Amino acid sequence: MKIQLNEKLSISKLVIGCMRMNDWNLSVKQTVEFIEWCIERGITTFDHADIYGGDHRNEALFGEALQMQPSLRENIQIVTKCAIAVPNAKNPNIKTRFFNTDKQYVLEQVNDSLDKLNCGYVDLLLIHMFDLLIDPGELNETLQQLKSEGKVNYFGLSNHSPLEFDTLQKYTDIKFVTHQFMLNPLGIQNYQNGTMTHCLKEGISPMIWSPLAGGRLFKAANPADEKMKNVLQNIRQELNLEHLDEVVYKWIFKHASNPAIVLGTGNKERIERALTSLEGPQMTREQWYKILIEAGYTLW
Ligand SMILES: NC(=O)c1ccc[n+]([C@@H]2O[C@H](COP(=O)([O-])OP(=O)(O)OC[C@H]3O[C@@H](n4cnc5c(N)ncnc54)[C@H](OP(=O)(O)O)[C@@H]3O)[C@@H](O)[C@H]2O)c1
Repeated sequence: MKIQLNEKLSISKLVIGCMRMNDWNLSVKQTVEFIEWCIERGITTFDHADIYGGDHRNEALFGEALQMQPSLRENIQIVTKCAIAVPNAKNPNIKTRFFNTDKQYVLEQVNDSLDKLNCGYVDLLLIHMFDLLIDPGELNETLQQLKSEGKVNYFGLSNHSPLEFDTLQKYTDIKFVTHQFMLNPLGIQNYQNGTMTHCLKEGISPMIWSPLAGGRLFKAANPADEKMKNVLQNIRQELNLEHLDEVVYKWIFKHASNPAIVLGTGNKERIERALTSLEGPQMTREQWYKILIEAGYTLW
């Protein structure tokens, strides 16, 4: 159930993604109970970003729970991200989305995240997107400062190409411990562009976001999505599984990089199902490739 990202940091193989937390309509007490329920099941890692819910809102919802029950902090790992600047009330002058990895901006965002999360440090900070205007030397200084101040324990990247990842890694002796990016049967670009293989080269476990294509898999709103749904349904029957999401999770888990999956649901029944997908029958190579090919991968 655990993935060791380095000698000191391990995360759970299933991570609770908090991007949609503001839609879950939980009271503070219910959020505390939800976090406890996850911990009891070995799900100890929670994925945030400064922009989730808009201007740190979801971090604040989580932070209220930590304030009500401070002992939760020692049993969980908190991941957060920064570098996407979006228009919001705090920055009325920002009219357009852009990426920002300037030192002052990153430090301010991390301070705000810690403030809203009600904790002194995060376990893992990810640079959310590759900033084309990045100064990699300045980023190194920023990360070193956050580490030496004890505000961030470890660092990773999100949504970078292998070249972008390697370039930033070259400028710092802080080893990026993970790479978070999208992968699902309706979106396999990170197989096609070598990002999954790059994880093997770097010896890192990726964190996979939108494993169910944001729920699009269940809607099958166009003929291509419908065809994929049918392929998944056939494999579900062959494996004698109850639900489609179990097939998808098994498909993602099969890669040798030992991926973690960042779940997008707060629905306990669906989370339980994700847990059962860690056990039971394994997908064959043929079934696995059938999904990849249906997703548009050309073998030769
Ligand atoms: N690094 C990045 O750039 C990045 C980008 C996007 C997301 N993320 C992270 O990844 C996490 C997961 O992303 P995601 O939310 O897009 O994940 P997802 O699992 O692909 O999608 C979740 C959505 O699917 C729905 N769903 C789940 N199971 C379903 C089922 N059996 N039938 C119908 N609908 C179902 C959920 O609805 P219910 O809530 O009703 O279950 C929810 O609306 C986020 O919370 C965030 O932490 C990171």
